[in-house]
Amino acid sequence: APELTDEAFAALLADDGRVEPRDPMPEGYRRTLVRQIAQHAHSEIIGMQPEGNWISRAPSLRRKAILMAKVQDEAGHGLYLYAAAETLGVDRADLLDQLHTGRQKYSSIFNYPTLSWADVGAIGWLVDGAAIVNQVPLCRCSYGPYARAMVRVCKEESFHQRQGFEILHTLSHGTPAQKAMAQDAVDRYWWPSLMMFGPPDDDSPNSAQSMAWGIKRFSNDDLRQRFVDMTVPQAEVLGLTLPDPEIRWNEERGHYDFGTVDFTELFEVIKGNGPCNRDRMAHRVAAHEDGAWVREAADAYAAKQVARTEG
Ligand code: ACO
Repeated sequence: APELTDEAFAALLADDGRVEPRDPMPEGYRRTLVRQIAQHAHSEIIGMQPEGNWISRAPSLRRKAILMAKVQDEAGHGLYLYAAAETLGVDRADLLDQLHTGRQKYSSIFNYPTLSWADVGAIGWLVDGAAIVNQVPLCRCSYGPYARAMVRVCKEESFHQRQGFEILHTLSHGTPAQKAMAQDAVDRYWWPSLMMFGPPDDDSPNSAQSMAWGIKRFSNDDLRQRFVDMTVPQAEVLGLTLPDPEIRWNEERGHYDFGTVDFTELFEVIKGNGPCNRDRMAHRVAAHEDGAWVREAADAYAAKQVARTEG
């Protein structure tokens, strides 16, 4: 492909154009996309574990069927995202290897345990809610395959968020013990959900360049604020309290004020020291190894098909 000058690339982005797989692009742009898309894909796949923990113990057949479908959706999101990363010339097996050896990251949020059924509700409401706020702008990402994958992912995430809200609504209008269980889940998941948006803007090494390239459309702090603004009124409808006494409407700013996020906790979790990091990786690596025979069978089948068409 012809070399694209920095000026030509800047002009394309200024025109809100989309970059497609065969287009020339700066190497840094390609590397940043691989990093973010792979990390995003890994998050979807690791994200199956905390909720998968409750499939066998869901409180009714209806809840079980919904949860199974939701966890399968997350697997699907991971697969679209690995496919989107592959359009940038990387190999899925290499990306998985980098995840398994700790060279690529996945979202901090999936390193927290799911201690009660209400946690499934809190994950749907808060974690998928945060994911939507982060991902809707990615539907306008400058890289076409990533942007298009996000359209379907966001539609499915909206359904996930509603199902989490509905679980918590049912519990918070149930017995006092059920309401307490819902409140406890929200108490534990609120702050980690705010951490999903990443470090504050002045401590976010990738943001400025990613925004200049049209990969990220809003800063980490702007999206965190948007999430708080969306969630506070929903908590009122649920009759649950967000565990932050500093939350209050700020007329002047037109936003809710909120307390300070403990970013030391985020950095510790990213470094591998969250409550479940070791379990999540051990489970993932074991699942990958247990699946080796499937990959071998698929390869053998593909080779046989090639031999047939050639023969
Ligand atoms: N968990 C783990 N790592 C994080 C988190 C987090 N919550 N937030 C930031 N980081 C990492 C970044 O990946 C980066 O590390 P790297 O340079 O080695 O990749 C470092 O901390 C510094 O952060 P930023 O400079 O702010 O990084 P970036 O510009 O990539 O922004 C963000 C981070 C907002 C997560 C961005 O990558 C993004 O929007 N990703 C797509 C969405 C996504 O991955 N969602 C996954 C969870 S939602 C779900 O799956 C249901």
